[in-house]
Amino acid sequence: MNKENAKIKIDELVDILQKHNYNYYVLSNPAISDYDFDLLLKELEKFEDEFPELVRPDSPTLRVGGEPTKNFKTVAHKYSMLSLSNTYSEEEISDFDARVRKVIGDDVEYVCELKYDGLSIGLTYVDGILVQAVTRGDGVHGDDVTNNVRTIKSIPLKLHGKPPNEIEIRGEVFFPLDGFKKMNAMREGIGEQVFANPRNAASGSLKMQDPNEVAQRPLDCYLYYIPGNQLDIPTHYDSLLLAAKMGFKISKNIAVCRNLNGIFEFIADWSKGRKHLNYEIDGIVIKVNSISQQKQLGFTAKNPRWAIAYKFKAERVETVLMSIDYQVGRTGAVTPVANLRPVQLAGTVVKRASLHNSDIISNLDVRVGDHVFVEKGGEIIPKIISVNTNKRLHESTPVEFITHCPECSTPLIKNEDEAAHYCPNEDFCPPQIKGKLEHFISRKAMNIDSLGEGKIEMLFDYKLVLNVADFYDLKPEIIIGLEKIIPGKDGKKDSRLSFQEKTITNIISGIENSKVIPFERVLFAIGIRYVGETVAKKLAAHFRNIEALGLASFDELNEVDEIGVRIAESVINWFEKPEHKSIIQRLADAGLNMEMDENSSATSNILNGSSFVVSGVFEKHSRDEIKTLIEQNGGKNTSSISAKTSYLIAGSNMGPTKRSKAEKLGVPIISEDDFVLMIGS
Ligand code: IVH
Repeated sequence: MNKENAKIKIDELVDILQKHNYNYYVLSNPAISDYDFDLLLKELEKFEDEFPELVRPDSPTLRVGGEPTKNFKTVAHKYSMLSLSNTYSEEEISDFDARVRKVIGDDVEYVCELKYDGLSIGLTYVDGILVQAVTRGDGVHGDDVTNNVRTIKSIPLKLHGKPPNEIEIRGEVFFPLDGFKKMNAMREGIGEQVFANPRNAASGSLKMQDPNEVAQRPLDCYLYYIPGNQLDIPTHYDSLLLAAKMGFKISKNIAVCRNLNGIFEFIADWSKGRKHLNYEIDGIVIKVNSISQQKQLGFTAKNPRWAIAYKFKAERVETVLMSIDYQVGRTGAVTPVANLRPVQLAGTVVKRASLHNSDIISNLDVRVGDHVFVEKGGEIIPKIISVNTNKRLHESTPVEFITHCPECSTPLIKNEDEAAHYCPNEDFCPPQIKGKLEHFISRKAMNIDSLGEGKIEMLFDYKLVLNVADFYDLKPEIIIGLEKIIPGKDGKKDSRLSFQEKTITNIISGIENSKVIPFERVLFAIGIRYVGETVAKKLAAHFRNIEALGLASFDELNEVDEIGVRIAESVINWFEKPEHKSIIQRLADAGLNMEMDENSSATSNILNGSSFVVSGVFEKHSRDEIKTLIEQNGGKNTSSISAKTSYLIAGSNMGPTKRSKAEKLGVPIISEDDFVLMIGS
């Protein structure tokens, strides 16, 4: 195809993809399937690969990431980014209303909006194209995070209709709650610190250096303000309607109110209704609707006089701190947990609260026996806010943080630059061992799905599996008939877990199948601290085998792209331990992949140039294993069928549309057995 025709095609594809993106992420009303969307995106990618000079600045392909940024550029805000004055009381809202009426009289209208709990962002569009996204910073200067913001699917890269030559709009980037919970669970699994709340997760994500990583996070954004009356429009409400027409995501939860009653009703509705949202709000924002009235009211040095934020009070109660327990997490971090005299708070009975770490205990000067104030804020677990020292007993003494691990008695360590105490006994401390075993079998690691938390606990309790290499010594005759009584919680009956014949067959074959897992996943699975999925891939690709990795010096590790001091040190420390050397040896003896594919017997170039779509359920391999085999043999996996697809590998229960599409395009449909013959394994 010549360049001219390619340009026509690219323009056409960008426009249509933008429309579908808008339908999906802004209107939540998709018009085509994900599969068809991917097909179009792939088509666009193909043209862009061929003619890189034709990549448009608003191309949807930019949403998957761009060049990493070392330091974000600081840029000056064209309109300073002020914050709102806050209040927690309805009385102060009345005072605000009185102040407003004093200046502009009684013909006033307010717009009530939700106060999204994320981080504010200013988006600038020139000729309808997103050119800059800046964080608030100090209100005068902020960080240019454009590449990261481009990955947020609900933010338009190109505006609809005929937007002004240049426009800046403000909004809040936030982390949806469902995605937040998933991400934290995953981070916990690999020993990464979890985010305390969705707001921290959103700001942490926007400050990441690699937009490809940001693109993996499900960030979202509501827009709520166009500074400087750039649209020359009479009301704030109309400006939001117009912004929605331009393609921005504007909340539907907005009300125009003419008096305080309307405002109080909105506050009451959302104090309750907030728990049904898939994002956090920390209050309500009340804005004077008329832009000319806003002008009349003007600004103080810090805030507009035409708006105020009503913040929800975190519910707070007083209770007694009865005792402190210390919990050891999978990473060895020791968390002090307060046992409280049970008390009602925000609809639930609270018995425990996190005390986080020793610094927090000393800053609060909280002591056993104290009357404490407990709050449920944005955090998941209730927090102790302060101590009612008036009620303190004379004989009370400050808390002495434990010095030894409550699980294995090893002396705890505390690094100067970290708040947490750690149990360093990573290989022999029970919760740490169980955490490592669970991580090892997890889907993205060795994918032994016939084992789970309960079974691992049992194998551990019977001392049959004490480290990851022990899985490969399990024999049916050793585990048959094992039984464990699981005590019922909260008055529920006890239950019994036992290993029956069928379970055992599944476990043993799951373990056996894991031997084809490629080296980079084995490396991820063994659970070296800070070696997550991506780092494992990088290390495996660079060092090629476990021996070379184990012998690598600090400098050699640190030189690898994206491997910093923290990871390099962690890898060195891990390989220094003789018990780890023995685990590696045993895993290698069991037949796990300890080197990259090109050296392994399973590898070939036989599938070079062929692309595959794998669909349905298979008998001898899992879908992921087939995909791995494709890559190991030089082929490429794609998610959707096009005329370029070489083969569709079809299992049972494959969707009928896939089959008919393949038939229509003349793509050969092959079985699992055909494929195995093809690669000759
Ligand atoms: S309007 C000049 N509307 O709350 C007024 N702010 O201190 C611009 N926020 O920094 C802000 N939801 O990050 C506005 N519906 C909303 C908001 C909102 C959240 C944030 C924003 C601002 C802070 C107020």
